[in-house]
Amino acid sequence: MSATFLALGLGLVAALQQPDDATRALFITNCAPCHGESGDGQGSTQLDRPARSFADGGFSFGNTEEALLRTISTGIPGTPMPGFDQTLDEGQRRALAQLVRALGPPTDDVETLGSQLDVHERPLVVRGKLPPIAEETDEHPRGLLIGTPGGLTFQYRTDDVRLLGVRLGDFVQRTDWGGRGGSALEPLGVPVFLCEGGAPRASFERPGAGDLLAKLSGSFVRGREAGLTYRLLEADGRVVATVTERVDALSTSVGSGFARHFRIESTGEAFPLLAHVVHPPDDATQPAWRDAKTLAFPAEGGVLRTILLEGDGVLARDRVHLSLEPGRALAFTLGVVTTLDHAAPTLERLRAEAGLAR
Ligand code: HEC
Repeated sequence: MSATFLALGLGLVAALQQPDDATRALFITNCAPCHGESGDGQGSTQLDRPARSFADGGFSFGNTEEALLRTISTGIPGTPMPGFDQTLDEGQRRALAQLVRALGPPTDDVETLGSQLDVHERPLVVRGKLPPIAEETDEHPRGLLIGTPGGLTFQYRTDDVRLLGVRLGDFVQRTDWGGRGGSALEPLGVPVFLCEGGAPRASFERPGAGDLLAKLSGSFVRGREAGLTYRLLEADGRVVATVTERVDALSTSVGSGFARHFRIESTGEAFPLLAHVVHPPDDATQPAWRDAKTLAFPAEGGVLRTILLEGDGVLARDRVHLSLEPGRALAFTLGVVTTLDHAAPTLERLRAEAGLAR
């Protein structure tokens, strides 16, 4: 190998270990306002709960390069940490993940266990026995997890289809993937969002007839999309509507969260339907702000839980009002995003980057 090649090779190694000026500049512009220029968590943005000091390490959602890339891309729903997958390209995000790792204490990469299932380009759906998502909630022997490539996992109970919460991190582990024994699934992500404390009420109600039972028909993965199909039943067992629900991450530069896309079709008659899918924070009495398609609730840590509706339906404080007609499917998307404010420019950026029209 010639001296020039050797020098080039050494330069490359150094470049991989030392953040280049361009990456430093990206960090200063995009991250330092919250994390501080040295990554010590002392940025200029006022946050009730400070951003993480990278020097202390101890990342809640994983400290491998891949895990950090995921957190930086998706953001951390429920906290002010935004997602950067629309504003920075993958190379930039990867370089920042390496820089964050370099700012932290030296770490040993933990070997992943053979029984761990990871999500790559396509979402994954698994069913099985799940531990309670939060203390004081029931174990749901029949559960379902949808893992998305951005690191969010949507946890459902399936005896009466309800989203219980959303996790961020690795996907799931089980000791006997091949066996049919009842060994429990162990979701690996940390819960970042709980629907009504992890024990939500039934998702759909027909005024006059009460709550409808949601019976799972199946799950699907199509390309990067994943979701569930289910039927809504009245107490006498009559199926009155069918639902397709698709979920994905909603990462924007002003806040991160997730979106649920619903398509609902009546099996015969016209009737009003209430969708209890807004899940305001437990202690929230009144929204801090609202219009026909947006709600913003003050949430723990001085942030806002912002709810966006797009498509059919009318948004109320804790539900979506729908009106079913035979032969016409209703379609709406509900976005749940944590933002620092509800100023007009924030909401405009949110809607534009989330792909939700006004
Ligand atoms: C608007 C403020 C804000 C900005 C901008 C921001 N962050 Fe964060 N970040 C946070 C907060 C707050 C947390 C802590 C969240 C929590 O409570 O777990 C955090 C946490 C993190 C974590 C820790 C994840 C873990 O596993 O615990 C990483 C890594 C991170 N940020 C990287 C970045 C990078 C890289 C950028 C710039 C590209 C950035 N952040 C921009 C607010 C911000």
